[in-house]
Amino acid sequence: MSPRTLVAGNWKMNGLKASSAMLEELARAHPSPVCDVLVCPPSTLVAAFAGGAFPIGGQDCHWKASGAHTGDISAEMLADAGASAVIIGHSERRADHGETDAMVSNKTEAAWRAGLVAVVCVGETEAERDAGETLARIGSQLAASIPDGATAANLVVAYEPVWAIGTGRTPSLEEIAEVHDFMRKTLSDRFGADIAGGVRLLYGGSVKPSNAAEIFAIKNVNGALVGGASLKAEDFGGIISAAG
Ligand code: 13P
Repeated sequence: MSPRTLVAGNWKMNGLKASSAMLEELARAHPSPVCDVLVCPPSTLVAAFAGGAFPIGGQDCHWKASGAHTGDISAEMLADAGASAVIIGHSERRADHGETDAMVSNKTEAAWRAGLVAVVCVGETEAERDAGETLARIGSQLAASIPDGATAANLVVAYEPVWAIGTGRTPSLEEIAEVHDFMRKTLSDRFGADIAGGVRLLYGGSVKPSNAAEIFAIKNVNGALVGGASLKAEDFGGIISAAG
């Protein structure tokens, strides 16, 4: 049996307290969604939004629980603020903040230590795809970014081709299927088919209401990690509806 579809919104550095109105509008339009929904606003809004209609996640965490790390927040702090999940290793963190696979692995362990679901992101650059290195890149990221101890309940993996993020371009359905089949097999080889079969594999990169249904229909795709389209109730709602 396939795991329940998860539609997660990554608000990135967008959103103010007044954005709660968008979530209220979304909840009114989708009182009982056919899929799991997760909203990951900036950390300033986690406490304000937690306990509302949708589970709330962070967008990053430090690997330590506390200490002298100015500007960082820990997984424990996200959990304390009411988050149930955290995105880790997004390509924007990897590019803007030099996050390595080893750091992503440490952060994932921190998320699990704090009882959070880790949404671990992987994805190739356009140059890597053009060079035919996509699967090798995804394989090495999966191996080094995910620590031992993964379960179907504590891990979600998001495949986000860097060149598809915010560009309006997406891989073909066959290209998405190839990577997702590869990710399932890679996780099965390491964690066993029972665990790997339950881990949600999300696709992310220019998902919108008009392409969501065909992406969700791909065999090993169990949902989406949505950026820009998660900021508008109508668009995010359209993607949630497509999961049915
Ligand atoms: P877009 O949906 O805006 O392409 O962003 C995808 C993303 O990076 C989600 O984490």
